[in-house]
Amino acid sequence: MTGLRHVDLTVCPCAPAALQLLWIGYFPCAPLGPTLAVSLQLLSLVRQLFMRMPPNTSAWCESFEAYLAGMGYKVDTKEGIRRRFSNAYHWYCILELSLDEYVQQKLQKSASLPSDFSLSVPSTSHCPPNGDVLSSRIRPSEYLQQRCPLCFGGYSCQMKSTQHSSSDIDAIVCIDACFTQKRRSGQPDDPINPTATVFLSPGDIYAMECEVDGLQKSRSSVQRRSGQSLKRNHLGNEDDVFEEGMRITTSVLKGCNESFTAADER
Ligand SMILES: *[C@@H]1O[C@H](CO)[C@@H](O)[C@H](O)[C@H]1NC(C)=O
Ligand SMILES: *[C@@H]1O[C@H](CO)[C@@H](O)[C@H](O)[C@H]1NC(C)=O
Repeated sequence: MTGLRHVDLTVCPCAPAALQLLWIGYFPCAPLGPTLAVSLQLLSLVRQLFMRMPPNTSAWCESFEAYLAGMGYKVDTKEGIRRRFSNAYHWYCILELSLDEYVQQKLQKSASLPSDFSLSVPSTSHCPPNGDVLSSRIRPSEYLQQRCPLCFGGYSCQMKSTQHSSSDIDAIVCIDACFTQKRRSGQPDDPINPTATVFLSPGDIYAMECEVDGLQKSRSSVQRRSGQSLKRNHLGNEDDVFEEGMRITTSVLKGCNESFTAADER
């Protein structure tokens, strides 16, 4: 068959097969003696796909095996690739999340050090990297800095120049929620999906509700608060449960879908 390439790995304790496979761009299905390795590009594609449609590894593996069969390649085990592919995919996702976390930590660290800022942005002669000038009071919250280090992470010249007051909008951050990713469960002994969960404080939510209510009253009194209609639809008639690893109830997750759909249509 053309296109097939044989690669021999010389394995020793200092260079296990899993590590050598990663070096050449393949993620192994097991740390020791892996029998399947999946290309990092393919895993990245699957990750993107599963963020936009319901994740179904079985369906994906069946399709992939059928696709390979169509090209004359046969998966030569009875059980197929599903279990091993799932392992590779699961740990690939955890690697990606850990990498994000690592990068965020590094960015956070450099953003809080004025000397680093002057190194990374050389053309700021009129903006002395003086940490005292920018008190923590006028800096965006840690949360915003993490979401977008570029927008909120650094020491911005704009914040102290006279044309800009601190209430000017520099960036609008839109958070799109896909709870299906968080609900997805792995193997029983795997760690719970480590995607970070962030809850707004009740005080913040109350303040936002007041503001939205005020604005809505001034425009029209037709729209009711979506929270109230959700409660009526979902909390009234069914016993509410928490799914494992989730901190909000199933009915709220369902309600999210409806308010999301409604917001999308508006
Ligand atoms: C995933 O796909 C398989 C095979 O196509 C199907 O039988 C199964 O119902 C799907 N699972 C979900 C949760 O949709
Ligand atoms: C989400 O809401 C829409 C519109 O109400 C509905 O058609 C769809 O089936 C819902 N999806 C899920 C996964 O509940």
